[in-house]
Amino acid sequence: MYSTIVSSGSGGLALADSPPLEDVGPCRRPPRRHRLPNILRRQQRIKRSGRRSTRLREERGEGDRGGKMPGLTAPSNYAEEPPRHPALKINSKEPFNAEPHRSALVASYITPVDFFYKRNHGPIPKVDDLIRYSVSISGLVNKPIQISMADIWALPKYTVTATLQCAGNRRTAMSKVRKVRGVGWGISALGTATWGGAKLCDVLELVGIPKLSSVTSLGGKHVEFVSVDKCKEENGGPYTASIPLKQAADPDADVLLAYEMNGETLNRDHGYPLRVVVPGVIGARSVKWLDRINIIEEECQGFFTQKDYKMFPPSVDWDNINWSTRRPQMDFPVQSAICTLEDVDVIKEGKARIAGYALSGGGRGIERVDVSVDGGKTWVEARRYQKDNVPYVSDGPQSDKWAWVLFEATLDIPPNAEIVAKAVDSAANVQPEKVEDIWNLRGILNTSWHRIKIQNSSCVGRSKI
Ligand code: MTE
Repeated sequence: MYSTIVSSGSGGLALADSPPLEDVGPCRRPPRRHRLPNILRRQQRIKRSGRRSTRLREERGEGDRGGKMPGLTAPSNYAEEPPRHPALKINSKEPFNAEPHRSALVASYITPVDFFYKRNHGPIPKVDDLIRYSVSISGLVNKPIQISMADIWALPKYTVTATLQCAGNRRTAMSKVRKVRGVGWGISALGTATWGGAKLCDVLELVGIPKLSSVTSLGGKHVEFVSVDKCKEENGGPYTASIPLKQAADPDADVLLAYEMNGETLNRDHGYPLRVVVPGVIGARSVKWLDRINIIEEECQGFFTQKDYKMFPPSVDWDNINWSTRRPQMDFPVQSAICTLEDVDVIKEGKARIAGYALSGGGRGIERVDVSVDGGKTWVEARRYQKDNVPYVSDGPQSDKWAWVLFEATLDIPPNAEIVAKAVDSAANVQPEKVEDIWNLRGILNTSWHRIKIQNSSCVGRSKI
């Protein structure tokens, strides 16, 4: 019983020379031409047995998961990592953290799965048995339950095109001002996918939480997501995060429990079999390999919510930090970057295409992208676009409100140009000019104007463009 209620985006683009490297589970994938019917058969089988098992568990009152089901497990080492595209730039091998070349981001509106950044804090979990995999929903609810993939598939299916951006995107540039702690990222720790799955608000209704609730009758105000991966920061415990119930139970917030990415089954790197996607919010809250959902009174107390992903002022360092003084970061601020040029590029004088991405959090659209070739003295407005043949209007009904906007401008490049981009969102928020002003010890949310210094524009030849 599938019904696609929201459908947006132009679908995944498969690059001709880059076969998907998906690795979703213990069984080898059949050749692509046989894949769909097999998957359908498997889904039907799982649906049937899942329905039986979920009913049984509910009848036996095992909603709070007395004995753990070994459907999904997490290795303690990196011996069973999935295959990855060799073109990714690896920022840390174990755990695996990698980003594509910036040019891949503007090659298509939807980022191919292979070129979607991968951000992990431990070894990638494995599905041992999809039939036995289930997610428990408990805490401050009257009717705790365990739901199987069959139950999730039986809910209305939504597709939402949304950009995930790591809060650490552009951290390397921030660390040039003063050292920061964290994995170094260039400008490609983000990507846009069409996610398919059930809405979290529909799932919460199964435990008696009506849509648009902000508090449960037992006082629950936050929805916590718990994974199974073994993270060093949690002393080998799982990755966790939470979002306010108000957002989780709001159908318009489009929070998904996603099982598909760009029309294909989610792969292991991106959270197979089920992940949370919280549109408009830093990627850290979109928990992969979902194991448990807890309805809790206060926000999640885990490391990644309380001792990471918070933004401090430039005056705070590791000697005087008091984590409890700041709230966990949720929405990301307005951001943009140029993807067709790099500092090392040598370009001919004359016209060059300057293209990149711009996005803002909280569902805010991009009202304007300004581009300069003289370090910000003068500006030209770039053309913004999302889907073919649909003019982009920030906050327009045909625009994907949770997704980035690509921009382009073809400009005369003077000698020794400094090319700059800055975006303005639909609430008139503008990117800050200097990275120094937003420096913070964890190096998150570097949204300063993106600058490219062309090395020697009088020489011949043009690289990487
Ligand atoms: N979920 C789990 N279980 N473990 C993780 O390490 N990383 C988070 C989030 N969800 C993480 C997780 C962070 S910091 C980001 S930015 C996104 O996943 C990255 O998602 P991706 O690897 O699919 O791009």
